[in-house]
Amino acid sequence: MKLKISEDILSLVPYKPGQSEADVKKQYNRDFFVKLASNESPLEPSKMVKEALSESIKNLSLYPDPGCQRVREVASKYYDVPTEKILVGNGSNELVDLLIRVMCEPEQKVMTSVGAFIAYKICTKASRAQIIEVPLKEGYSIDLEAMSDELEKMSELPQIVFIPNPNNPTGSYIPENEMMEFLDKWGGNEEMLIVIDEAYNEFVDADDFPDPKKLMSYENVLLMKTMSKVFGLAGLRIGFLLGSTEVLSLVHRIRNPFNVNAMAQVAACAALEDKEALDEVTTMIKNERYSFQRFLKEMNLDFVPSQANFVFFDTKRDFAKVHDALLREGLIIRPLAPYGFKTQMRITIGSSEQMSFAREVFKKVFK
Ligand SMILES: Cc1ncc(COP(=O)(O)O)c(C=O)c1O
Repeated sequence: MKLKISEDILSLVPYKPGQSEADVKKQYNRDFFVKLASNESPLEPSKMVKEALSESIKNLSLYPDPGCQRVREVASKYYDVPTEKILVGNGSNELVDLLIRVMCEPEQKVMTSVGAFIAYKICTKASRAQIIEVPLKEGYSIDLEAMSDELEKMSELPQIVFIPNPNNPTGSYIPENEMMEFLDKWGGNEEMLIVIDEAYNEFVDADDFPDPKKLMSYENVLLMKTMSKVFGLAGLRIGFLLGSTEVLSLVHRIRNPFNVNAMAQVAACAALEDKEALDEVTTMIKNERYSFQRFLKEMNLDFVPSQANFVFFDTKRDFAKVHDALLREGLIIRPLAPYGFKTQMRITIGSSEQMSFAREVFKKVFK
């Protein structure tokens, strides 16, 4: 065919998800794999979520509520934000995409960090806008000072700055003093949005993690949340954008009216109200993360102390060979070549059984 396709689209490589068990089973002719590659929850949805879902099946012949009224009411209590400041998306990835499409003309700019969640870059390019990636600090943390310096130098500010906190895939976090220093300068700027993506904030145990109330006191700051991680609903696709009603009303103009399916809405309400299930997951992940990081230290593998449900570590070897060796032993984790990391990998923190298995595999592969 002789279709005219933009270079921005041709330069994109389709998103490479964590390998599925079915794929690797065939490739490695092996029945059993443990998958710790996509930062999913190791637990099944809670009893409350399952009951709400089975009750909702009888309504599946109806369109979902396009305004997500009940979810916004429940989310409003959970996040302590008024309902009118909440927009619901088909996963937070959709919200990244919608925001960029609403805000950017081709040639306008979006800023983020090198090594930040890759969807910011993909969605920017898909909208033919320009991505600016500011290098990470030593130790793989996001460098807000460098981002601020870069903004100072620009003749025209980017339309959006995306700041994931904690960051995926590095697991590092930005403490409140650094974030507030950045926002003291750029928060309240009427020409630029600052989106703070808190996909993993429930897993944080640092005392100096930014207070969301302080972040949201700036009109141009939006917070992004997902139900895919701690709430274990990755398969249903639901996430939230919290912030200025003016910005949300722009996104409402272009979103698909039924972007959030009925099952996702029902499950999200139940999950947000199930405090016990939430405590169970966070306690389990924090304990397992602590043990696994101690194990990495014993194995002399350098890692970034994580505030999320995964750990970024340096294999100090060619990732492709390590990846292959891990798969041969039945362990699926995430290589990070699309982020430009050639020797580093990311392992999701799973259940105690999954992490014991991972430790045994690591002992063989990294001996
Ligand atoms: C930092 C960050 N933001 C957003 C997302 C997207 O989450 P979802 O689209 O499943 O809501 C992810 C998923 O891995 C992530 O790591």
